[in-house]
Amino acid sequence: MQGTAIAQPNIALIKYWGKRDVERNLPAVGSISITLRELFTRMQVEFDKSLGTDTLLVNDTPDEKMLPRLANCLDRVAGADRPRARIVSTCNFPIAAGLASSASAFAAVTLAAAEAAGQSLTVDQLATLAGRASGSAARSAFGGFVELQNVDDGIRCRTIKEADDWPLSVVVAITEKGPKAVGSTEAMEICRQTSPFYSNWVEQQELDLDVARAAIASRDFEKLAVIAEHNCLKMHSIMWASRPPMVYWNAATMRCLQTVRQLQGQGIGVFFTIDAGPQVKAVCLPEQVGDVEAALRATDGVTDIMTTGLGEGARLEGDA
Ligand code: PMV
Repeated sequence: MQGTAIAQPNIALIKYWGKRDVERNLPAVGSISITLRELFTRMQVEFDKSLGTDTLLVNDTPDEKMLPRLANCLDRVAGADRPRARIVSTCNFPIAAGLASSASAFAAVTLAAAEAAGQSLTVDQLATLAGRASGSAARSAFGGFVELQNVDDGIRCRTIKEADDWPLSVVVAITEKGPKAVGSTEAMEICRQTSPFYSNWVEQQELDLDVARAAIASRDFEKLAVIAEHNCLKMHSIMWASRPPMVYWNAATMRCLQTVRQLQGQGIGVFFTIDAGPQVKAVCLPEQVGDVEAALRATDGVTDIMTTGLGEGARLEGDA
């Protein structure tokens, strides 16, 4: 009655923002992401008939906040009449701060729960179930460059290029460690209901996906850089224009963008992307990592740097 799984977070280059079905958590748009290698969430799930309630430990500390969403996830995998579970999570990066911690958490817990319940999931089932909990978690079922497409009644994820076929690096500049003020589900709904740019965003997404897909297929870094930055800033402009406005950035976030622009001015292959939080992810060619790390580390307000390559999809511990 026990299972343990590991999943890595992923960073979207063409973003998912907005839902077409809130109840089933289906995204309004497709997206393309990269799965990271060095950042991870490990989830251990143990069903125990003697437990009166589910429990969750995150990095050795009891956590009530995340428990309801994880419990719902276990219900979807093992049925609402399942035994209560002991969930133990270990994560080596800041949680709920715009670093896609929910993506790796829900991909890992889904897989671990299925193992604990004696089920074996196909990777498509894993993506669908994880995606019910967190849209971006579906993509962490896969490694490398991953595209999530909307299909009639659901989603379909695929690796469109393996990590080894284009081994890019990501330097994450941490500018703040606290959890974000507004969760992504609530923020997306505010945008859908109030932002004057939202419908335009949904309409244009296929064009951005086409450009990014082609750039990835031909390993055209420049082309990917331009479309990824455009798509990121477009997503944030929807948030800035919504009512109430949502600005996830801080002053250091902006300074990191300037640092990336300066690096680009020196001919360094790097681009930025930012999710629903103040951290900046600088995607670069592996040979540029040293320069990018040094420049971001020297940027005022950056408290920490994490560097990672591209990694694989969620897996059971022992399968790696
Ligand atoms: O999966 P969620 O609900 O955490 O939403 C993720 C939204 C972004 O990280 C901002 C974009 C994305 O595609 O990951």
